[in-house]
Amino acid sequence: MRKKVIAANWKMYKTPAQAQEFVKAFLPLVANHDRDEIVLCPSDTSLSVVIAAVAGTNVAVGAQNMYFVDEGAFTGETSPVMLKAISATHVILGHSERRQYFGETDETVNKKLLAALKHELKPIVCVGEVLAERESGKTEEVLLRQIRKAFEGVVAGQCASIVIAYEPVWAIGTGKTATPEMAEEAHAILRRDIARTLGQEAADAIRILYGGSVKPENATALMNQPEIDGALVGGASLDPQSFAKIVKY
Ligand code: PGA
Repeated sequence: MRKKVIAANWKMYKTPAQAQEFVKAFLPLVANHDRDEIVLCPSDTSLSVVIAAVAGTNVAVGAQNMYFVDEGAFTGETSPVMLKAISATHVILGHSERRQYFGETDETVNKKLLAALKHELKPIVCVGEVLAERESGKTEEVLLRQIRKAFEGVVAGQCASIVIAYEPVWAIGTGKTATPEMAEEAHAILRRDIARTLGQEAADAIRILYGGSVKPENATALMNQPEIDGALVGGASLDPQSFAKIVKY
């Protein structure tokens, strides 16, 4: 049985004070909830306050991005060493907004994935097709290209600590959710490919989350699909009540 991961991607929302306020309201709502792994991913400026606020609880904290080099002249970037030093445990990599607006490529995602593993940060690697790709029947081809490049150099034994997030780009922030069947099919494509390249044991261990307009109203149907191992939640994770409902789907 794979433990599900329910992760909040706050994107560029919440000041440190607002992040702290969220945690204060959220923790009592999920106290003693250990069925699923709960992860909050605030922006870098709120990481330390959120990490301090959840210390000793069932809630983990991750970053939304990082660079793949330990240190150096890379203005504006955050390194895996820096994230480890403040006790972040997870990191989202290759989110479609980073690919779309900040030039993230399958190659940089691969370098970041290897760097995260080297530093024992749990990567949440995002893949997903845009609408035109789905409509022209290219979903499988796109997912396979993204996943194979991202996983170059990864070995089977590392898969238990890697999380993939399947996020169809047309479903992000649009209110359009993939149907549970569509998500299930995409997840199966990804898991089959991991089995082919890294073996069945690795494929059975890896967690594959669904992301894209997950809400309290649709979480149960999505989470009940056998191939769906959790959710990466944007908009509906900004409110503590709503995110807690998704965690407890
Ligand atoms: P959304 O975002 O839940 O607001 O669609 C999901 C994501 O981008 O991770």
